[in-house]
Amino acid sequence: MKKTIAVLPGDGVGPEVTEQAVKILKTIANNFGHTFIFKEGLVGGVAIDRTGNPLPEETIMLCEKSDAILFGTIGVPKYDNDPKATVRPEQGILGLRKGLGLYANIRPIYTFDKLVGKSPLKPEIAQGVDFIVIRELISGIYFGKRGRNKDRTEAYDTAEYSKKEVVRIAKYAFAVAQKRNKKLTVVDKANVLETSRLWRETVQEMEKEYPEIAVDYMLVDNVAQQIIKNPKGFDVLLTENMFGDILTDEASVITGSLGMLPSASIGEKTALFEPIHGSFPRATGQNIANPIGSILSAAMLLEYSFELKRESEAIYKAVEKVLNEGYGTKDITTNKILGTKELGEKIQEKI
Ligand code: IPM
Ligand code: MN
Repeated sequence: MKKTIAVLPGDGVGPEVTEQAVKILKTIANNFGHTFIFKEGLVGGVAIDRTGNPLPEETIMLCEKSDAILFGTIGVPKYDNDPKATVRPEQGILGLRKGLGLYANIRPIYTFDKLVGKSPLKPEIAQGVDFIVIRELISGIYFGKRGRNKDRTEAYDTAEYSKKEVVRIAKYAFAVAQKRNKKLTVVDKANVLETSRLWRETVQEMEKEYPEIAVDYMLVDNVAQQIIKNPKGFDVLLTENMFGDILTDEASVITGSLGMLPSASIGEKTALFEPIHGSFPRATGQNIANPIGSILSAAMLLEYSFELKRESEAIYKAVEKVLNEGYGTKDITTNKILGTKELGEKIQEKI
């Protein structure tokens, strides 16, 4: 199989972890007889520094022409601490999601047995956690009208959803639930928000078409609590953009390290794959960031975009082996600590 992969390393530790994922993809190509062509593009803070634009036209074109996108991380502290900045690194990823129509963000949350001791939760609660969050990614409060009044003493952000948008993402979630344990939990704030009531009403109407799937509806504050108390109670969670952002950061902690988790963003054009973690500015350039989130994102890329299930499995197995041998970056192990690059190489050896 011959495919082109756009690589957008972004800011902070993005380039370091993405480099490891690319290395793994090259090994897969080599061992399984594929040709992957990698093409780098600028996005985020680095793109602002070099071109003044967090999402240069060239990058959009590169992504549209490619078969999949491997994305690093976005974010630079100087912008976070400057509420007046009008150009921000985050506009890079948000613009890309919107521009490519990537409405479904898939965030699997699972624990590796070896790392259960690293979870802040009791081992009996953390062990065997395996659920998936489907987050709507290109609408809601992230993309609604926002602004200030004339003297800038009042501000507003608007959460908006259309029925069409809810149907589109719910269809995706039903399909995922069908392939798993046929249990779907819709997460909203229907006791307060009108958008949530539209979500609930829409999914309730759709339930008839999926009689084999058990659907329940839960309020987001309750879900935040249950994710910690009984995470094994969940299978597929479906939610809107901002709830999904917050809940997945919360859920990622169960697994022992934010650095472990991958994600896929799928929709109308080229799909994008990125670790859940941020740009980790303090660790930048130190070879200490965990590359597994990015490496598993590459595994998701093979499965979701190229339907290379065996190749994708090979990556999961290699990661698991290396973890079982006790290796890791310092966020996940205390004795056999490796650098970002060395952990990448260890995983590469196992493929
Ligand atoms: C994420 C990130 C992004 C988001 C930021 C970087 C804009 O937190 O992918 O979860 O809020 O969606
Ligand atoms: Mn987030």
